[in-house]
Amino acid sequence: MGPNSWDHLFRNARIATLAPGMERYGLIEKGALAVTGGRIAWIGPQSQLAGGFEAARDTDCQGALMTPGLIDCHTHLVWAGNRFAEFEQRLEGVSYEEIARQGGGINSTVRATRAASEEELFEAALGRLRRLAASGVTTVEIKSGYGLETDTECRMLRVARRLGREEPVRVHTSFLGAHAVPPEFSGRSDDYLEWVLREMLPTVAAEGLADAVDAFCEGIAFSKAQVERLFQAARALGLPVKLHAEQLSNSGGAVLAARYGALSADHLEYLDEAGVRAMAAAGSIAVLLPGAFYFLREQKVPPIEALRAHGVPIALATDLNPGSSPVHSLLLILNMACTLFRLTPLEALVAVTRNAAKALGVADEVGTLEVGKRADFVLWDVEEPAALAAQMGPEPLRKRYLGGLPDVRPGE
Ligand code: NIG
Ligand code: FE
Repeated sequence: MGPNSWDHLFRNARIATLAPGMERYGLIEKGALAVTGGRIAWIGPQSQLAGGFEAARDTDCQGALMTPGLIDCHTHLVWAGNRFAEFEQRLEGVSYEEIARQGGGINSTVRATRAASEEELFEAALGRLRRLAASGVTTVEIKSGYGLETDTECRMLRVARRLGREEPVRVHTSFLGAHAVPPEFSGRSDDYLEWVLREMLPTVAAEGLADAVDAFCEGIAFSKAQVERLFQAARALGLPVKLHAEQLSNSGGAVLAARYGALSADHLEYLDEAGVRAMAAAGSIAVLLPGAFYFLREQKVPPIEALRAHGVPIALATDLNPGSSPVHSLLLILNMACTLFRLTPLEALVAVTRNAAKALGVADEVGTLEVGKRADFVLWDVEEPAALAAQMGPEPLRKRYLGGLPDVRPGE
């Protein structure tokens, strides 16, 4: 094949490339994008196509908006059971932390997840993943953390890997064994952590089940000193780290994460100036989770101005989980980030594409529409990019493409 012989040419699209350094959304009016071998081979105004190319397939996008596929870089989408009774309890005045201390919260999902078979977990997660995909998601991160013992943690991660093999979505996994202290170790969090370090993490790593290691640094979960031991073990195994940090209080988790070169620190409502500076210096991404902020009726907004001032890239994610963020649409998260955190629609879209790719360490591969990257993109039935963040409810997805191939469901 010559340089201008393509597998598939998409023309007549309004393309928001979101490439860095470009004006606004990197918009190309009447744009064209060519795919070869699953990657972007050419992109630009179709007026510059001239002759001199061949394309095996040619698609007229009929003026649709094209964006990079969306990336949900923080989810807990494999779980069993539900926590609707806790929703009611919170409305009767019991706090999220109190529920956790009484043995509910994360540990109630742990009980249900331990009791579920791999097939049951897969089926439940598949439905959630398809909903996320319907909001334009082409790459998703999935955490363990509702097993808190080796078998169930591995089962969750195997389910996540299988979703990536069987569904047209790229899946990245994170081991979150240090999510909560399980009931059998109640009051003995150091002993539990020891077990995580000695048995769970080495097993997960040996089976190649995790792409990164995560933890929950908080009064109701693990201390900075405990998380540091986990990060040292992850480093010894060559696994990158990330952290649930400063969600309910400031525990200094973000500074610690930055010291270990974390891909990201996530939540960050209580992040202080020292944390922002440390993240900026380390190049860690700030992953904000407005779904959890909203659902827990948090009052403290993350320090958006300081993150902007220090140039810390902001990503957004659903945090999809049964207890603090049962949000199955990444588009709804764009709206929440604009409304609750005052992000601009442009910042919000960059946060679920370019910056979310950085948060997963895959910015060379996905996150923008540029030559050489994977042809993961979405066609939307909207005229302007801001419509993706402004609306609540409509899911204006026309079609999702992964590596240039359309997501076609049986019967379509
Ligand atoms: O990201 N913060 C800790 N972990 C999850 C909550 C999980 C749960 O409540 O089940 C979160 O919000
Ligand atoms: Fe989370």
